[in-house]
Amino acid sequence: MSLCRDKVNVLFVCLGNICRSPMAEAVFAAMVRQKNLQDRFGVIDSAGTAAYHVGETPDSRSAATCKKHNVPVNHHARKVHKSDYNRFDYILCMDTSNLSDLKAMAPAGTTAVIQLFGDFDPNGERIIQDPYYGGREGFEHNFQQVTRASEGFLKSLRML
Ligand code: 4NP
Repeated sequence: MSLCRDKVNVLFVCLGNICRSPMAEAVFAAMVRQKNLQDRFGVIDSAGTAAYHVGETPDSRSAATCKKHNVPVNHHARKVHKSDYNRFDYILCMDTSNLSDLKAMAPAGTTAVIQLFGDFDPNGERIIQDPYYGGREGFEHNFQQVTRASEGFLKSLRML
């Protein structure tokens, strides 16, 4: 994967990389395309802090929620790697556990911005809760959150 330094590279992170972060990646990438901002971004990717599901495609409930909203998803789970801290400008995670794990793993001198994706939610719902052991409504709620946060993030970059 080649990275372009004049473009913004964004990594979305959750625990397993099968529910929330592949959804965030897909929703954000779709919004970037819809708003014709593809030239402004390099790599948009996602990863997990844990390795339980490495290689798996997204959870069927996450994929179904994206499909329902006509957002294409194409991802295989992977774990966050130390090199991600140099490769990505923004590492945006879902909950405070992801945030502390990411900070603990961060190599000295990383310039990546490591932050809760929900910080960009104009509704102020900062935590994107783990939906894994809950019902489908949790995935729909996650979808609404990542949609609002995607738009908020683009506004914070002054691209909207
Ligand atoms: P995610 O959800 O972090 O949004 O991908 C989870 C997926 C799997 C597990 C927990 C959360 N798990 O315990 O296997």
